[in-house]
Formats: sequence, structure tokens, C-alpha cells
Amino acid sequence: MIEACYSQSEVPPVLAYFRKRASNYGAASATGLWAWQRRREAAAFAALTGEFAGRPALDLGCGAGFYAIRLADAGAHPVVAVDAAPEMIAALADHRVQTVLGDVTTVALEHRFRLVVLAGVLEFVADPIAVLANARRHLEAGGRVVALVPRDNCAGRLYRRFHRRHGFAIALFDRPRFAFVAERAGLTLVRSQAVFPFGEVHAMIAP
Ligand SMILES: C[S@@+](CC[C@H](N)C(=O)[O-])C[C@H]1O[C@@H](n2cnc3c(N)ncnc32)[C@H](O)[C@@H]1O
Repeated sequence: MIEACYSQSEVPPVLAYFRKRASNYGAASATGLWAWQRRREAAAFAALTGEFAGRPALDLGCGAGFYAIRLADAGAHPVVAVDAAPEMIAALADHRVQTVLGDVTTVALEHRFRLVVLAGVLEFVADPIAVLANARRHLEAGGRVVALVPRDNCAGRLYRRFHRRHGFAIALFDRPRFAFVAERAGLTLVRSQAVFPFGEVHAMIAP
């Protein structure tokens, strides 16, 4: 429970921000420019996840469940989704998805997964290496971690400025930096696909 992780006075600004946005996060991301961006990011994900139908999948930093629901639609089973914002977890009401309120850095599940997805969460955490290492710990043999991150380009820097206005800094990743972070987490970057204007999806395996 988030209350067990943080007292009310010390909820980190990132989580305070997402908790406030949870009630209309799904609807807002399904309209306008954001929906256009989402469709292309999801297509890049689909190109990099490999086969997972009938296999277990984990969505770390699931938000209102955009990817968790698509994993279930594509036949992943079971689908487990983790987020530290209780309001996001509450917004993810799909009977095929098991939700867990927890921190992506420390959550420790009993299951191992064919696919672990991190969509738009690594830029918000204090230690992306620790989060990727935790994702690796949850992989079954031959499994894959797929992550969407913002690139370090002009559009990415605008995205970072947008978040600065909400009182926190986010990380941007160029490809060599992401490969370094993945390697430090015990993962090997096997494929990357940029998504205009500032996203990049990376697929990783545990050697
Ligand atoms: C940009 S949203 C992306 C949500 C979802 N993956 C999507 O694509 O719609 C980032 C999510 O990460 C969650 N988050 C941020 N830091 C977290 C942490 N340390 N542990 C768990 N969740 C976290 C936020 O609550 C938020 O729901």
C-alpha cells in the first residue's frame, strides 16, 4: 500500500502528480495528439515484445492500464500490473488484470514473467538501474523486458520542461545511455525503435 511506503507528508511529487491525474488519465490519453502518439508507441511495443500469447506478463508503472489491457487483449495470461498510485490502480478495472499497489523499484512478486513492460515510468524514478534490475528479477528464462522512454532531443527536452512546471525533473535517455543503464541492470539491449517525436522503445533480454 502506498500509505505503507510513504506517509502523507512525504508522498513524492511525481506520485502526487499522478494520483491527481488518475481519474481522467485513461480518457485524456485516448483523445487528440496524445492518442495519436499512443497508437504509434503501442505499434513499436507490439513490434518488439516477441511472442507472449498464453504466457505471463507484467506491467510495471501501469497507470490506468493502457498496456496491461492490451497485453490481456493479445492473450497474455496472467497479466499483473503494478503502480504506486492507488487512484491509478483503482482506475484499472479489468477482470483479466491482477493489480498490485507497489513501488516498481522494490516490488517482489512470486511469479516470473515472459514479458515485463515499463511504459513511461523509468524517466520518473530516482534509480532506473534498480528498476530495470527488479524487472530482470521478474523474468522467466528466455523472457524479455520492453521499455518506453523519452529521448534526449528537442521534443524530449520540452517534455522535461513540461514536468518541471509540476515540481520534478525527469530523465531523458539517448540510446548509448539507455544501453549503459540496461547493462548495469544485468540486461542486454537487443532492439530499439524510435517513435516520433521523442519516444523510444527498447527490448532487452537477460543474458
Ligand atoms: C506516465 S505514467 C504511464 C502509465 C502507463 N504505463 C501508461 O503507459 O499509460 C507513469 C506511471 O508510473 C507510476 N509511477 C511513477 N513512479 C513509480 C514508482 N516508483 N513505483 C510505481 N509506480 C510509479 C505513476 O503513478 C504513473 O501511473
